[in-house]
Amino acid sequence: MREAPAVVPRWKEAVERDLAATLERTGAEAPRLAEAMRHAVLGGGKRLRPLVVLATAHALGADTSRALPAASAVELVHCYSLVHDDLPSMDDDVLRRGRPTVHVAYGEALAVLAGDALQSLAFERLFDSELPPGTVRQQGLVLARAAGASGMAGGQALDLAASRGATTAAELRRMQELKTGALLAASFELGALAAGAPPGEVARLGDAGRKAGLAFQIRDDVLDRTGATERLGKTAGKDDRQMKATWPALVGLDGATRLAEELAAEVLALLADLGPRAEPLRWLVQRLIERPA
Ligand code: IPE
Ligand code: IPE
Ligand code: MG
Ligand code: MG
Ligand code: MG
Repeated sequence: MREAPAVVPRWKEAVERDLAATLERTGAEAPRLAEAMRHAVLGGGKRLRPLVVLATAHALGADTSRALPAASAVELVHCYSLVHDDLPSMDDDVLRRGRPTVHVAYGEALAVLAGDALQSLAFERLFDSELPPGTVRQQGLVLARAAGASGMAGGQALDLAASRGATTAAELRRMQELKTGALLAASFELGALAAGAPPGEVARLGDAGRKAGLAFQIRDDVLDRTGATERLGKTAGKDDRQMKATWPALVGLDGATRLAEELAAEVLALLADLGPRAEPLRWLVQRLIERPA
């Protein structure tokens, strides 16, 4: 893996600061809920989705500060999705980002509410923006669709309904394009919209993001089988124990890795004509599938 382009750590710091400031401004009325929300968002996380938002805006010639509200917003939706994904009624996980999951630390009811409130906070942050109202409206639609029943939440429902052995490759692909691909696609689209890209370009980058998301989830499934709990910061080997439908289960580890690499190559081909300003974005796409943990 090449070293990160110098702007990436700076962008990550900007995201961290913005998330901390956003959480600082919320929840004074219910301090324990606010604490659970901070637990879910601060202190860990690769921040890949917000970095993709900023890198896409940068690739298209925009100042990344224009894309910061959307970058934080998509990370807040992602953090909410993780809180609910870990609930006992879903994946029943006790470890996230190397720390106890929100329901372990704060109880199940507050974890449900923290997820709810993080989703609302995401839209509050998105709409608190200096961009033209028409752009913010489009960004709101993109994020709402990506989070909802035709996006991440829908994919999570398909994940729960899927059963190993009965799920076909086409079904698995659709489920993962929704549960993970939708928020990655939205990250590319939000960055493109912040840069004022025309609709055709926004859609093209969204397609690249969906493929990148699928590759990322395949890599996540591979790491669940091959990674170590300490490095992953979440319990390794859970997918097999819970008989989840995954690519390693369907086509084996090598087949799954090949598929992720093919998808990443397709994404990079879609980004090839963007020129040198897209270098951080191309690096992030590479990192999506090469991440060691
Ligand atoms: C985990 O996402 C959930 C998946 C969609 C695979 P990340 O691997 O991006 O998790 P964090 O944000 O870095 O903790
Ligand atoms: C989660 O997929 C995708 C989400 C929408 C949160 P996983 O269930 O595989 O994510 P991890 O492995 O718990 O992070
Ligand atoms: Mg899950
Ligand atoms: Mg999970
Ligand atoms: Mg996983």
